[in-house]
Amino acid sequence: MSTGKAYKLLKDLPKNPRILDVGCGPGMQTVELAKLSDGQIVAFDFHKPFLEQLEESIKKEGANHRIKIVNGDMRNLKFEDDSFDVIWSEGAIFIIGFEKGLREWRRLLTPKGYVVVSELSWLKDGAPQEAKDYMKQMYPVIKTIEGNIEIIQNSRYRLVDSFVLPSISWWGNYFTPIETKLPSLKTRFKDDQEALKVIAYEETEIEMFRKYSDYYGYVFYIMQKNDINSFRHYVTSKILKYFELLFIISIIALASRSPLSVTNPVIRFAGVISKPSFNSTFLPR
Ligand SMILES: C[S@@+](CC[C@H](N)C(=O)[O-])C[C@H]1O[C@@H](n2cnc3c(N)ncnc32)[C@H](O)[C@@H]1O
Repeated sequence: MSTGKAYKLLKDLPKNPRILDVGCGPGMQTVELAKLSDGQIVAFDFHKPFLEQLEESIKKEGANHRIKIVNGDMRNLKFEDDSFDVIWSEGAIFIIGFEKGLREWRRLLTPKGYVVVSELSWLKDGAPQEAKDYMKQMYPVIKTIEGNIEIIQNSRYRLVDSFVLPSISWWGNYFTPIETKLPSLKTRFKDDQEALKVIAYEETEIEMFRKYSDYYGYVFYIMQKNDINSFRHYVTSKILKYFELLFIISIIALASRSPLSVTNPVIRFAGVISKPSFNSTFLPR
C-alpha cells in the first residue's frame, strides 16, 4: 500500500527505470515494485535466507526476467556511477545511517534520480519520558521529520514528499503475526534464556508501539537528486568524453600520415579511420 503510494509520486521516470532495492529482505516491496513499474530491479541484501525467500516469490509471480538478486553489504555498494533511476530502501537505511546513506547513494543515481526510504522518526514533540527512554536504547539517533528534511536538503536532494506509514501496516504485516505466536514461543523456549530475551524484546516493542505510536513511527521520504551542479557535472562529463574521443581520433589520424605509419601495424590499422592520400608529402615514395 505505502510502496505504491510512494512510487506514484515519482514523475517523469524512463519507460524502464533501473531500480536498486537496498536491504530488500524477503522482498515484499521488491515484487510490488516489479508490478508497479516496467523497470529492471536489483534486489540487494546481506542475509542470504531472505534472498532465497525472495527468489521463491519471484518464481511465483513470474518476474524472473526483471528482478536480479544480489547478495552483498550496503556499506560497500560496488555499482557504477549513474547506474540507477531510483534507489529504494524500506526500513533499512538506518543500517548505514540516514545521512551517510543519502550521501553515498548520490553517485549511483542519474542526475534526476530518486531516493525513496522509510525511516523511524519522531512524529511530534512532547513524547512521554518512557517513550524517550525506550528510544534512547532502541534508536538513539532518531530525528524528527523536520530534522530529517534538513539532512535531505543538506545532502543535496529535493524533498518531493513525505508521509507517515499508517499504523495498520505495522499491525497487519508485522506486530499482529508476531504477537499471535509469542505465547506458544514462550512455552516452547521456557528454558532457553537467549530465546526468552528475544521474546521479551518483542513484547516491549509491541507494548511501546501500542502506547506511543502517536509519537514515533516510520516515515516515507521521497526525494530527488536535482541540484544544478550534478546536472552540470553529468553534461560536462559527457561533452568531455566526446572531445576526448575526437582528440584520440585526430592523433591517430595525424600519426597515420607520418612515415611511421608504414611500419607500425596499430597506426596502419587506425589509418583506416583517416586514410592518407597517396600523394601525401609525408608518405615515403
Ligand atoms: C528491517 S529489514 C527491511 C527489509 C525490507 N526492506 C522490508 O521492508 O521488509 C532490514 C534489512 O536490511 C538487511 N541488512 C542488514 N544489514 C545489511 C547490510 N550491511 N547490507 C545489506 N543489507 C543489510 C537485513 O538483512 C534486512 O533484510
